[in-house]
Amino acid sequence: MRLKDKVAIVTGAAGGIGLACAQRLASEGAKVVLSDVAVEQGERAAESIQETGADALFIACDVGDKGQVDALIAGTVAAFGRLDCVVANAGIVHACDFLDLEEADFDRVLRVNLKGVFLTGQAAARQMVAQGGGGTIINMSSVNAVMAIPSITPYVVAKGGVNQLTKTMSISLADKGIRVNGIGPGSIMTDVLKKVANDKSAMDKIMMRTPLGRVGEPDEIAKVAVFLASDDSSYITGQTIYPDGGRMALNYTMPVPE
Ligand SMILES: NC(=O)c1ccc[n+]([C@@H]2O[C@H](COP(=O)([O-])OP(=O)(O)OC[C@H]3O[C@@H](n4cnc5c(N)ncnc54)[C@H](O)[C@@H]3O)[C@@H](O)[C@H]2O)c1
Repeated sequence: MRLKDKVAIVTGAAGGIGLACAQRLASEGAKVVLSDVAVEQGERAAESIQETGADALFIACDVGDKGQVDALIAGTVAAFGRLDCVVANAGIVHACDFLDLEEADFDRVLRVNLKGVFLTGQAAARQMVAQGGGGTIINMSSVNAVMAIPSITPYVVAKGGVNQLTKTMSISLADKGIRVNGIGPGSIMTDVLKKVANDKSAMDKIMMRTPLGRVGEPDEIAKVAVFLASDDSSYITGQTIYPDGGRMALNYTMPVPE
């Protein structure tokens, strides 16, 4: 157990990658607070982890709201006594043509995907500094932080910002023993992708850009989160790791088997 008795928060943990991270952290011995705006789903997710015998709790929180983020940290400390790890995972996507992009949609995505990561990381770091002993912060980025899909401009911009935030936080917090790293997944089979999983032309587009020839599973991201949360990564800070099936190594496209 690499995280025995550590206390971790995962935002956006009601499903998808966030839930997988919470499950993995718990299986490595961490006490886990799952957080999300999806309350019923989040509560069910926390119960499913409790049923494995692990300590888990759901606290509702909109990561774009500073008061709610502060309450999430306070609620975690009230329940489990401290905070050792945060996975800032909550994220949303808005798709539309660049020329049709509304200011409100740009703001909405940046509020959750960038400001939310900042608020979560800062509040977590303040708690870690106050209690002493360091900690780990993991920001969920994307291959889209460094590659661009024009139909999701706010998402691409926010994830690019997350990578720079990871760097500034890692330097700011290094002397406090807090390591800050990012994970930049490629195409992972969560609800968004499940909607197009039966659309051959949509899946072919993804596969043409995926050397390993398959989409990733949420647990393949969660395993990286455990690595970054644990002492296995004790000399790594300020980095973003890309579990992307080889996408970022690829210039041009791959043949897709019929
Ligand atoms: N699935 C992929 O292919 C993929 C690829 C790269 C990066 N990512 C990133 O991984 C993270 C998780 O993605 P996912 O695919 O599991 O998506 P998902 O939609 O399944 O999960 C995101 C969760 O965030 C929650 N959420 C939304 N707004 C919130 C808010 N304001 N406050 C708190 N929670 C909020 C949602 O309710 C949801 O449970 C996101 O940051 C996403 O950008 C996903």
